[in-house]
Amino acid sequence: MCGIVGYVGYQNAVDILIDGLKHLEYRGYDSSGVALMADGKINVYKAQGKLQNLIDELKTKSDSDIKSNMGIGHIRWATHGLPNQINAHPQTCNCGGLTLVHNGIIENYASLKTELEKEGCKFKSQTDTEVAAHLIAREYDKTKDLVLAVNNAVKQLKGAWAFCVMHKNEPDNIVATRKNAPLLIGVGENENFLASDIPAIIKYTKKAIYLNDGQIARISKNNIEIFNPDLSIADNKVEFLPFEPLALSKMGYKHFMLKEIHEQPDVVRNILQDKIFDEISDIKLKDVKLTKEEIKNIKRIQIIACGTSLHAGLVGKYVLEEITGIPVDVEASSEYIYRSTIADKNTLVIGISQSGETADTITAIKQVKKKGAHVLIITNRNESMLARLSNSLLHVNAGIEVSVAATKSYIAQLISIYLLAIFMAQTLDIKTDLIKDIKHELLILPSKLEAILSNCSLIREVAKKYSSYKNFIFIARGINYPTALEGALKLKEISYINATGYPAGELKHGPIAMLDETMPVLAILNEGIVYDKVMSNCEEAYARQAKLIGVANHIDDKHKKLFDDYILIPDIKDIVSPALNVTVLQLLAYYIAEYLGKDVDQPRNLAKSVTVE
Ligand code: F6R
Repeated sequence: MCGIVGYVGYQNAVDILIDGLKHLEYRGYDSSGVALMADGKINVYKAQGKLQNLIDELKTKSDSDIKSNMGIGHIRWATHGLPNQINAHPQTCNCGGLTLVHNGIIENYASLKTELEKEGCKFKSQTDTEVAAHLIAREYDKTKDLVLAVNNAVKQLKGAWAFCVMHKNEPDNIVATRKNAPLLIGVGENENFLASDIPAIIKYTKKAIYLNDGQIARISKNNIEIFNPDLSIADNKVEFLPFEPLALSKMGYKHFMLKEIHEQPDVVRNILQDKIFDEISDIKLKDVKLTKEEIKNIKRIQIIACGTSLHAGLVGKYVLEEITGIPVDVEASSEYIYRSTIADKNTLVIGISQSGETADTITAIKQVKKKGAHVLIITNRNESMLARLSNSLLHVNAGIEVSVAATKSYIAQLISIYLLAIFMAQTLDIKTDLIKDIKHELLILPSKLEAILSNCSLIREVAKKYSSYKNFIFIARGINYPTALEGALKLKEISYINATGYPAGELKHGPIAMLDETMPVLAILNEGIVYDKVMSNCEEAYARQAKLIGVANHIDDKHKKLFDDYILIPDIKDIVSPALNVTVLQLLAYYIAEYLGKDVDQPRNLAKSVTVE
């Protein structure tokens, strides 16, 4: 996590750096800082807490203090050391001549620190980053060249990094490098940019160069040079950036999260466009490179993901097994990577990631690639590291998601999974009524989502009524069990209320002990094979005086009395219902958090892109 920016050109650097950091706030927001180069001198300004604190700090400086056409900036999500001003980046070497910003983790920082301390370096912070500042400064003293110094230094590091470095003796250059952490160069006219992610620079340029692992870039106002790790000249191509600056505006909504929930009908339309036309015709997935022979030979599917993407993967298990008959395992990436996993050329591994940059998922995918598995990545970021590692790609096309809590990208992941399952079935000549039903339901899903979104007042009232409760239980069975997990995750991450999702049938094996009038139980009931079973579990909760909230497409009169509140949603076939039901839970979590006055788009302790293991 953490976000970094760099600018060199003719404009006021501090304005561009702060604007860039605002667009990277989703990557971390516990402290921030900038370093500005002017007349061969580097001024560093840092502040603890939200970016606004840095902006306020900069307002106290005179124009001459912050006048500069070149600088680097950072927004932090703390890994090593408290989130305070000293540990904020930029970090500098002892003489202050070299300063840098860093995203990632230096795993061998402790041994390097001991070595550097023996040589006389004085450490001010508790960060791993400061080690890199001293190390590069040491190499600079030997080489008098910042590219050489950075190259020599990173060879001594273990871990992951993206660095932007300035040295007072090279007042026109920023040197940058990366390994297993994102960094791109924005290509401008008489100006150039560096950033962890596109939103930071999209206002200024639509052209970018992506650095490969280990490459080093030297950028100045009118020049970009890229070197391979052996210092040969590289010729990375300039690519066109996909986003419109408009996508980064709240468009009148109070929070990005609410805007992104409301975008869901269009997200579904977008992804279906060009892929599915009616209930009969074949669907097209141009970047899925699996041949009929390969699909026939798949013995197992493994889905690897984290957080909300993992919940999409759990829905994927139900859908893919039901439609293709191939066994599916789903596992958190962080668990997958530290055990002997079984994957080979007859395994299809599906990695799901909104950002395409999640470190645990990247590590897992690299491992399975070595074992010869076909890797299919479902991501919202076509240009991301995971997309680049894929053999097959499903771009979910949800548009940029700014709010830290994933919403529209989740629905887009679900739709991608339905498409993939149908695609595999059609390639295997499997034709069933269920497949026709799914296609039909997908095509009319946007209007059902709109029906929910155009009538949020009941969800809002329910949210207000339950906002003072300290604990929640979400229950469901079958394909909506992952919906219960996702609803609980949304609630806890943005409102900090303790919420847990359970398979409804598990309630009686332990959790039922917690039920009394202080415990709201939210049950997802979709007409289908488990409807009556979940209703029986609701009866059990009712008998223990729990407050019951139903999210259902139908509740008959004799059962209505069980529920303190219920939210009715449009009819939908069970197998596609997760894509509809989750919208109610997203809105419920949103309105509870909003009612409690929480920082909805930037919940405490979280970051959108988790680029550390
Ligand atoms: C929750 C959320 C996280 C992410 C998780 C994986 O709202 O956003 O749980 O889903 O960090 O991130 P990606 O999908 O980018 O790999």
